[in-house]
Amino acid sequence: MKILVVGGGGREHAIIKKIKENPSVDAIYALPGNAGMAEDADCVNISASDLDGIVSFAKGHGVDYAVVAPDNPLVDGCVDRLEAEGIPCFGPRANAAIIEGSKVFSKNLMKKYGIPTAAYEVFTDARKALEYVKTCPIPTVVKADGLALGKGVIIAETRKDAEDAIVSIMEDKKFGASGNSIVIEEFLEGPEVSVLSFTDGKVVVPMVSSMDHKRALDGDKGLNTGGMGTIAPNPYYTEEIAERCMKEIFIPTMDAMNKENRTFKGCLYFGLMLCKDGPKVIEYNCRFGDPETQVVLPLLKSDLLTVMQAVTDERLAETPVEFSDGAACCVVVASEGYPGSYEKGKPLVIEDEVKDKVFVAGAAFRNGILVTNGGRVLGCTATAEDLPSAIEAAYKVVEKVHFENAYCRKDIGAKALKALR
Ligand code: AMP
Ligand code: GLY
Repeated sequence: MKILVVGGGGREHAIIKKIKENPSVDAIYALPGNAGMAEDADCVNISASDLDGIVSFAKGHGVDYAVVAPDNPLVDGCVDRLEAEGIPCFGPRANAAIIEGSKVFSKNLMKKYGIPTAAYEVFTDARKALEYVKTCPIPTVVKADGLALGKGVIIAETRKDAEDAIVSIMEDKKFGASGNSIVIEEFLEGPEVSVLSFTDGKVVVPMVSSMDHKRALDGDKGLNTGGMGTIAPNPYYTEEIAERCMKEIFIPTMDAMNKENRTFKGCLYFGLMLCKDGPKVIEYNCRFGDPETQVVLPLLKSDLLTVMQAVTDERLAETPVEFSDGAACCVVVASEGYPGSYEKGKPLVIEDEVKDKVFVAGAAFRNGILVTNGGRVLGCTATAEDLPSAIEAAYKVVEKVHFENAYCRKDIGAKALKALR
């Protein structure tokens, strides 16, 4: 089989490595992929946002199955376009990807179907939003409606922060048309849990839970990033909470999307907050999370491609999806300065003995040499019998990767270890 994977980061590298385990796979094309995954896939220089390019490549190369991983092409209808050419895909169609593509849509969906989430108001008029934050409880949370490269959520600690956020999103159009509408919502507190799930619109099968570390610096300080590391499973996510989430959130969300004639097929990501009065949805993503995928897939015992195809064919109920009982940790090694400005083009060495434990997020070839080419460069991942051993092993992998301005958090998993005590 010829498989096409749209996307080019650490998440895609983790997906590709797992798909490669299936013996019927003859070729994997990554569009665009990155130089660090060249040993695992044929990287083709077509951008993940170039839908015409993706479709014509898939047709021209006899692709049998496509996995669309990033949010933008999913929201823009990449799956619809490929399916129209008869190419089966893993990933939601545009009418379902809207669950991530529009926060106004997802908040209204949750309200309509009684799915627990933060209380909120929607604004399309900056003046009214500014008026509202004069009296609303503080802190408050301001969110651009549309996709904003993960930067469209502002936790406003003061009224002034809230006003600045409204002006920059709605008037200065910091995120373009994504800021035509905004959501202002209640600030929630509690441990955060990421739960990725497979769903074919008939059943939801949650994957092992995980915990992201979004802030750039140790102790959850510094700017928000795409994610500086992950651990799985998340110790806060007990069996009892998992059962509640299934009943109160996962199944109701799948049913709600079906009732809206927007059946979701693919990976539905639940960003949850475990509040005193129960679990609530912070956000939905219409795709695998990054770097969550880098700890979740290494723990998957079942064949990924088989599970993905079962989702496509709506046979998930009769397909086993099993995870190992162990734990995993991924430490992201970034270019110093990320998520602000940073230097690229530094020679990058990954020692042979850890090659199978490193997912490459941002690398390029320059004059035949592998160099850094992004903020997040590597995800150093290890699995082990328990979480303390997985964390220790992941940091050992970090010691075997080298580039000049490398930076990583030293405390990935520390909060989870505290919860275990
Ligand atoms: P996102 O960029 O959508 O992944 O959101 C970034 C982060 O903002 C989340 O991981 C949460 O930590 C935080 N966040 C979003 N909504 C809320 C909320 N209503 N209350 C507290 N924190 C929130
Ligand atoms: N790590 C969070 C996300 O993928 O959105």
